[in-house]
Amino acid sequence: MTRHTTDIETIDSMPRGGPDASWLDRHLQTSRPEYLDRDDVPSRRKQKIAAYLDRAGERTGHHDYNAQLVVEQLFGIPNPRVLELGAGHGGLSARVLDLHPTAEVTVTDLDPASVADIEAGPLGHCPRATAEVVDATAIDAPDDSYDLVVFAMSFHHLPPSAAYRAIAEGTRVGKKLLVIDLKRPPAIVMALAFLLFLPAAVFLLTQSSPSAVAPVLHDAYISLLRSYSTSAFIALVAAADPTIAVEFLAARRQAAVVYTKL
Ligand SMILES: C[S@@+](CC[C@H](N)C(=O)[O-])C[C@H]1O[C@@H](n2cnc3c(N)ncnc32)[C@H](O)[C@@H]1O
Repeated sequence: MTRHTTDIETIDSMPRGGPDASWLDRHLQTSRPEYLDRDDVPSRRKQKIAAYLDRAGERTGHHDYNAQLVVEQLFGIPNPRVLELGAGHGGLSARVLDLHPTAEVTVTDLDPASVADIEAGPLGHCPRATAEVVDATAIDAPDDSYDLVVFAMSFHHLPPSAAYRAIAEGTRVGKKLLVIDLKRPPAIVMALAFLLFLPAAVFLLTQSSPSAVAPVLHDAYISLLRSYSTSAFIALVAAADPTIAVEFLAARRQAAVVYTKL
């Protein structure tokens, strides 16, 4: 584990590629919101995107893989209390409950429609699960309420000015905060990915209904541009509280960061 300090005034303007981002990297970012973040997008459309993400998580094995990362952090805790932030569809929490027979999970999202869908689904009937609307940057819970807080594939939705608050809040209400998110590729790879992405996008748009595929493609590319680099994850925690320790887990094609308040 390592400790770092960052000038808090610089965090709001920090590039997604971190304080040391190259010229190209600084140009490969955007403040454009995803469909999932927009208040003017109907809930039904957002729910379709969430359902697509859930299916993709199942097919690619991401839910299982991420649930395993969560369960490893619960080792040795008899009846662990877990808070999932930005759960969207709740697929990750469902897997955690499958893998860990005594874990209790509070499944949350900022979007009330997502939480209502989670409550109406299988998690709503599970005695070890509770669903709530929670803003990751202002969590309404006492200090140390949870053994682990997990924020999966959602951290990039927050600009740096909010992301560091989510780290402070997650480590306040939980003993540990596990952030799992897109791994920001090197700038040159992102630039090339955009060139490859265009023909793939055109192909996908011709294969199914454009209104169904376009928002998912849009959000996928915006997510990549908004992903944080390793140095950004470090700068964010230093702005949140320099006494929080940061550890990068070896994770398949993803960033997996454990923040622990010492
Ligand atoms: C891409 S989805 C991720 C869903 C799910 N965790 C997954 O792994 O597929 C991002 C989610 O983050 C949520 N979100 C965005 N800002 C948030 C915030 N400040 N607090 C909590 N959730 C937030 C959105 O509502 C959305 O459901």
